[in-house]
Amino acid sequence: MTQNLFEEEPLAYVAPQVIAPGAVLLRGFASDVGTALLDAVTQVTACAPLRHLVTPGGYTMSVAMSNCGALGWVSDRTGYRYTRSDPLSGQPWPPMPDCFADLAVRAATEAGFEDFRPDACLINRYEPGARLSLHQDKDEGDMTAPIVSVSLGLPAVFLFGSTLRKDRPARYRLIHGDVAVWGGPSRLAYHGVAPLAEGDHPRLGRQRINLTFRCAA
Ligand code: SIN
Ligand code: FE2
Repeated sequence: MTQNLFEEEPLAYVAPQVIAPGAVLLRGFASDVGTALLDAVTQVTACAPLRHLVTPGGYTMSVAMSNCGALGWVSDRTGYRYTRSDPLSGQPWPPMPDCFADLAVRAATEAGFEDFRPDACLINRYEPGARLSLHQDKDEGDMTAPIVSVSLGLPAVFLFGSTLRKDRPARYRLIHGDVAVWGGPSRLAYHGVAPLAEGDHPRLGRQRINLTFRCAA
């Protein structure tokens, strides 16, 4: 496999790129804190390991997930929901690291959403071939708050559509350090991730890590 290394180089953040009303890409916004975020992911997932959840339909997800913060998103045969404790351990989810909350609040502010105070962070790990089919984030209690999504490691193709499932989503390549924020009229936009391509990231190897911050309560 050949790769243009220059294309993979995180660029310094410049300005929001509007992709829909209430939705922006902040390219490179997290580049300078990537190492701190990944160190914190290692600490969180030592307590609450990444695991492949089962959907209500009985399908095992290709993305492995964990959580930190007061609330964590889980799925099993009985449905999707937020819980205060990790079903694997019965213990509360690990607290949200300060570097996570700081970045999420700064990104939301940059995107025009003041006073974002996330109480949940879903950690998604993609290995080559893993994908997330089109869905809406609709299990959260506060729909006035946006979703803040941080990409680390291997590049991915992010699919972002409208609030109607029938509309074909646009495709955006997200690399290490990119942040997407969607709220307001785009809060219930359909989104997903195309199957992750093979690659070798200098820090994460064959992995992409995504952090999504939400106001779940
Ligand atoms: C998600 O929809 O929760 C994750 C999106 C992503 O991995 O970029
Ligand atoms: Fe989502």
